Amino acid sequence: MDRNLALEFVRITEAAALASARWMGRGDEKAADQAAVDAMRRAFNSVRIAGTVVIGEGERDEAPMLYIGEKVGLEGPDAPKVDIALDPLEGTTICAQGGVGATSVIAVAEGGCFLHAPDTYMDKIACGPGARGKIDIDASPEDNIKTVAKALGKDVSDVTVVILNRPRHEALIQTVRKTGARIHLIGDGDVSAAVATAIGDSGIDLLLGVGGAPEGVISAAALMCMGGDFQGRLKFRNDEERKRADRMGVKDPEMALRMTDLCKGHVMFCATGVTTGPLLKGVRYLPGHRASTHSIVMRSATGTVRTIEAEHSLEKKPDGMIHHVPRAGV
Ligand code: FBP
Repeated sequence: MDRNLALEFVRITEAAALASARWMGRGDEKAADQAAVDAMRRAFNSVRIAGTVVIGEGERDEAPMLYIGEKVGLEGPDAPKVDIALDPLEGTTICAQGGVGATSVIAVAEGGCFLHAPDTYMDKIACGPGARGKIDIDASPEDNIKTVAKALGKDVSDVTVVILNRPRHEALIQTVRKTGARIHLIGDGDVSAAVATAIGDSGIDLLLGVGGAPEGVISAAALMCMGGDFQGRLKFRNDEERKRADRMGVKDPEMALRMTDLCKGHVMFCATGVTTGPLLKGVRYLPGHRASTHSIVMRSATGTVRTIEAEHSLEKKPDGMIHHVPRAGV
């Protein structure tokens, strides 16, 4: 994959972030998500790729845009064939509530290199490069925490574990507390949380718990670029989800999914902050119809992690990029 493509993909997450950030704190999750989807879909039209969405907004009958199987990009004789895993607005509730760490994310790989994860849950464990190769989805939380502490040269009490704050995690939270490790509970957004384990000064060492399976594949792609580790196991809520996984070609639904089962080959990942979080600053609107964005972009081929701060002239963006949110009574 051409390295210049990485910058093209950042433009796409920037577009989605700029559009959805207008909806920050307005309490309308659907509108925020729709703004991100529309802007991302439009931005794909200017990138020379023969892309196929493999992780997207859902199946064709439930998502009119960026659905699984949709072809995106400016096709042409030299357009590289790539598979795309995306989430135009990761953390719709965060954005709608003006909370911490909503992002727009895309991961890209050569054809056939991402697990076609169904829209179900996944039990996840993620860590940064310091503990790579040491974590094990089949081991207990206690053992994983001890191993990570040892690998990082820390006491267990200095290890910070990030967990989604959900009733389903009550037992896990109690178990982690008993080890003496610290816990950072988050309301949403486990992709940023997984990526944070690989960022030196994020203060987060390990991610544990159950979140969305599509988000798991995107997290694995990011951690592959950063030299971290990610493992998971699909967790189905019902038989329909199992059947869907079967239709999507998942051979063994119970299997422990290691990093290379989730993504392989040359992978690119990029994310732009929508609201400020541990990883990225959110979109800021500046005087003179300008706005700033903060993005991270990386490639597994080189392991380079770039952060990009951009200032945009909203007046010069193509039509529709400046989402004017209707004011009450207008
Ligand atoms: P959305 O962006 O689709 O709202 O997902 C947010 C998220 O918190 C993910 O980061 C996480 O993987 C998933 O939802 C957890 O699902 P649930 O809210 O059902 O526990």
